[in-house]
Amino acid sequence: MTVEGQSTTDRRGSETRGRIARHLVGRERELELALAAVGAGRDLVLEGPPGTSKTTMLKAITEEWGIPLFFVEGNADLTAAKLVGHHNPARVLKEDYSADTFVPGPLALAMENGGFLYIEEFNRAPEDTLNTLLTAMADRRIEVPRVGLITAAPTFRVIASMNPFDNVGTTRLSTSVSDRLNRIVVGYQDAEAEAGIVRLRSRLVGRLGDRIVGDAVAVTRATRSHPDVRQGSSVRGAIDCALITDELSALRDLADPDDDRYPETFFDAMVVSLSGRIHLDEAAETTAERVLREIWEDRFVLEPARAEPG
Ligand SMILES: Nc1ncnc2c1ncn2[C@@H]1O[C@H](COP(=O)(O)OP(=O)(O)OP(=O)(O)O)[C@@H](O)[C@H]1O
Ligand SMILES: [Mg+2]
Repeated sequence: MTVEGQSTTDRRGSETRGRIARHLVGRERELELALAAVGAGRDLVLEGPPGTSKTTMLKAITEEWGIPLFFVEGNADLTAAKLVGHHNPARVLKEDYSADTFVPGPLALAMENGGFLYIEEFNRAPEDTLNTLLTAMADRRIEVPRVGLITAAPTFRVIASMNPFDNVGTTRLSTSVSDRLNRIVVGYQDAEAEAGIVRLRSRLVGRLGDRIVGDAVAVTRATRSHPDVRQGSSVRGAIDCALITDELSALRDLADPDDDRYPETFFDAMVVSLSGRIHLDEAAETTAERVLREIWEDRFVLEPARAEPG
């Protein structure tokens, strides 16, 4: 660890990594790389599609370090003033400008409290907002008019995230920004890890639960490789598909995974949980529902053997 004023012993080494990893299903390699980057005192961009553990990893690291995590959504409205903070206009009228009238934004808060500033969809933020960040990243302090110098505590980090599928309203990062960031690419989890995540988040157990988790993960993964789909569903869709199937089964008094009504019940839940989460190719002449029916038929009609648990 290269940050001054930091107790290095309690944050170093495989023990810390092991403790953090306990909050996570899989992701050993990505977590290790992220820990190395932030432990080295560096800033970072995490590049990956939705639902690929980016926020989950950062939460686990900041909880272990005992520091706050500040979220900011990168979009065209993210001005430098929103990021840094502003003076309360009502108080300024009454008392004139002072450090007291300043309402710190997430950047000022993260610097003062030694937290991580997590900027999602980083590439959507306007260029001059990003430039403000550059100063904070390079100097570890910023000058705020009528407040003075805000100096970053040693554990302050800027962590950006970007979705590689995202091509709407985005700007490419300027080289001055990208040259100051390290980069970790995260892809979709493998099927086994996704099943672990869905089991953990849905808490489904038993024969019916196992069947539901297996099916939810399989059809969700299939949405990502369907030829008419530009971007398929994340593991969030699989979690919801599992939970809704379970609830719908209860409403229909269905407790046995071998019940003849199970496949249609699963399909109903599949449409609710996944139809809004898949983004079709512009050129595709089909609907989300039709795509889902094809995926369902593949698993439940054409190759039902694959749907056996285990
Ligand atoms: N490795 C993991 N272990 C346990 N749960 C996970 C893991 N990865 C993802 N999840 C669960 O999946 C959901 C989405 O994960 P997360 O919020 O970390 O994704 P993300 O990469 O930040 O996505 P986005 O880009 O959309 O913000 C969360 O509910 C989280 O609990
Ligand atoms: Mg996230």
